[in-house]
Amino acid sequence: MSRAEARIDLEAFAHNLTVLRAAAPRSQQMAVVKADAYGHGLLPMARAAREAGAEWLGAALFSEALELRAEGDSGPLLAWLAAPEDPWGEVLEAGIDVGVSTPDHLERVAATGQRARLHLKLDTGLGRAGCPPSNWESFVSRAKALQHAGRAEIVGIWSHFTVADDPRNPLNTVQIERFHAGVEQAAALGVQPEHLHLANSAATLSLPDAHFTLVRPGIAMYGVSPGVAMGTPQELGLRPVMTLIGRFTTVKRLPAGSGLSYGHQYTLPADATVGVVPLGYADGIPRNATNVGPVFAAGRRRVIAGRVCMDQFMLDLGDDPALEGDEVVLFGSGDEEVPLAEDWAQATGTIGYEIVTRLGPRVPRVYVGEDR
Ligand SMILES: Cc1ncc(COP(=O)(O)O)c(C=O)c1O
Repeated sequence: MSRAEARIDLEAFAHNLTVLRAAAPRSQQMAVVKADAYGHGLLPMARAAREAGAEWLGAALFSEALELRAEGDSGPLLAWLAAPEDPWGEVLEAGIDVGVSTPDHLERVAATGQRARLHLKLDTGLGRAGCPPSNWESFVSRAKALQHAGRAEIVGIWSHFTVADDPRNPLNTVQIERFHAGVEQAAALGVQPEHLHLANSAATLSLPDAHFTLVRPGIAMYGVSPGVAMGTPQELGLRPVMTLIGRFTTVKRLPAGSGLSYGHQYTLPADATVGVVPLGYADGIPRNATNVGPVFAAGRRRVIAGRVCMDQFMLDLGDDPALEGDEVVLFGSGDEEVPLAEDWAQATGTIGYEIVTRLGPRVPRVYVGEDR
């Protein structure tokens, strides 16, 4: 019995992909598995996504995409976050599509001598990666010249939303309009790629005008809501994939007035049973969950008592019975009193994405829900 584990429910994951497919039935699906599949484990989730029918996988780093290829994934795969010193040649040789945003990216492609499959990224308003509309024509022209020379195939035009988790925000419409304009400009230059893609999870679920030929869901596949305005996972028909569990390593009685953890930021109001949970900020538990992080333990919902330490935190269990080795659920299904990752996000001032993605490598991921 390990001290802690993140239980990853592959059946819930497959269910969520089905929900996303139903939301965008005419589009291909790119399962976004960057950042160790948002903390769920790159390779098992990539395999599960392919098994659930995802035509594409999406990675950020070249190293993530190369890891997928090294493990035998040979399907359509896009990587979009490249540093100048990254192995462009190796990536292109491995048949990985690359997202490109700047003339320098195109020069790096040209310098490899490889034939590249390119997705030209337009910045429609996020202000992150992507070619600004003012440079778009010259960028597309340069990519077209590479294509003409047999050095590249322009497979896609794409962009990324800023506020899709707020579906009624007018900026979504502005970004869709800018995207159409960029696609039309490219077409006027004779560039009409097979794929146009803009939608993340939130847009896949709520902005059909943004579906185009391919959607790129990430967070919703993992059963986490893209944002408060979108509703809970249950309201979206999603099932949380990750359940984070710790097991009490110490259970003991302490008298009223005892301070708990560094700085004594919690004092027992009465004689109580104290449970020590072996998960801390080294595992990705936010330190600002001190006195606010919700857990399900010894039969009911409670909050962390005192400071989150590097490897541990404590609970005031009152007079409820508990044994060393008993499970404590930090977040999971959201059923009954079990918290959601979203509850942790709310308690600690962040988003559900960060709660699952920050879970550290010391916590084993245990895959359940399918025969593997
Ligand atoms: C370019 C790109 N596309 C798609 C996604 C998936 O977004 P989400 O997890 O909100 O579905 C991300 C993640 O941030 C991204 O960076």
